[in-house]
Formats: sequence, structure tokens, C-alpha cells
Amino acid sequence: MATRASLSSGFERVTSLRQNLGLIAVSLIAAAGPHTPAAAQEAAVPADPAASASLDEPDLVRGRRAYQRNCAVCHGPRGEGGLGPPMRGIGSRLSADEITRQLKTPRGVMPRLYPSPIDERLLVDLRAWLLQLP
Ligand code: HEC
Repeated sequence: MATRASLSSGFERVTSLRQNLGLIAVSLIAAAGPHTPAAAQEAAVPADPAASASLDEPDLVRGRRAYQRNCAVCHGPRGEGGLGPPMRGIGSRLSADEITRQLKTPRGVMPRLYPSPIDERLLVDLRAWLLQLP
């Protein structure tokens, strides 16, 4: 009962922040987001291998989600570009370090999204996801 209540209040909080992102994204955030209380998360996803994955390994699913939430508005939902340059093929133009630098100290009109909402861990996931774009 307590688990259910804290999960749903977390869900409402996230929903109000992310209203424009659609239910699927929101429920993924509620299930795996950093704001979900650890106890509730364990109860909700007892045997999710992704939840206990090594911290060292980039998580491409989290990377893609972080991109959709924070970057797609300027770089295109499929990385095709928009206000910002395309992210497709970024791995052949920029190194991992250059991508990191652009996130931590952006050139141009790109906003600084590090260390929040893109923290050190999400940066690793996001960068790995960007680098595997075709
Ligand atoms: C408000 C729009 C906006 C958002 C949001 C944004 N960017 Fe950018 N981004 C830009 C613009 C504009 C540039 C080009 C900057 C310049 O060189 O003047 C850029 C440049 C970049 C570059 C360098 C591209 C290249 O070819 O040199 C990378 C990598 C990048 N952005 C990644 C991201 C990631 C990852 C996110 C999400 C965490 C993000 N951006 C969010 C607008 C944005």
C-alpha cells in the first residue's frame, strides 16, 4: 500500500513536470527515473536486469530517453537536426571527448544541460547512444 502510494505520487510529480512528453515516456520515467524512491523501485521491478546493471556500462535505453527528453527538440527526434546540427553520424565528426565538451561547456546557443538534468551517469549513457547513431 505504501509502495503504491509513493509510486503514484512520484508518478504525478513526474507527470506534471513532463506533461508534454506523452504517457509512454512518463511511465518509463516513473518506473526507472531517479526520483522514484529506491524501495518503491525495487518493489515495482523486482527482477529487472537493467536496474542492477553495472554502473560502468552505458545504458543505451537511458541514453535514448535522455536524448528524447533533452535534446530532440533542437536536434530532431531521430537526430536529423533542426535548430541544432544533426546528430546522425556524429561519431564520424566528433570524438567522445568532443561530445562531452559540447555538453559540459556548449558552444553557440545550445543550453548547458550538465550537470542537470544530464548528470555524469546520464552523460555516459547519452554519449554512447549518440555514438552508435548511424
Ligand atoms: C535549444 C536547442 C538545443 C538543445 C536543447 C540542445 N542542443 Fe545541442 N546544439 C544546439 C546548437 C544550436 C548547436 C550548434 C552550436 C554551435 O556550434 O554554434 C548544438 C551543437 C551540439 C553538438 C555539436 C554538434 C557538431 O556537429 O559540432 C552536440 C554533440 C550537441 N549539440 C549535443 C546535444 C545534446 C546531447 C543535447 C541534449 C542533452 C543537446 N545538444 C541539446 C542546440 C541545442
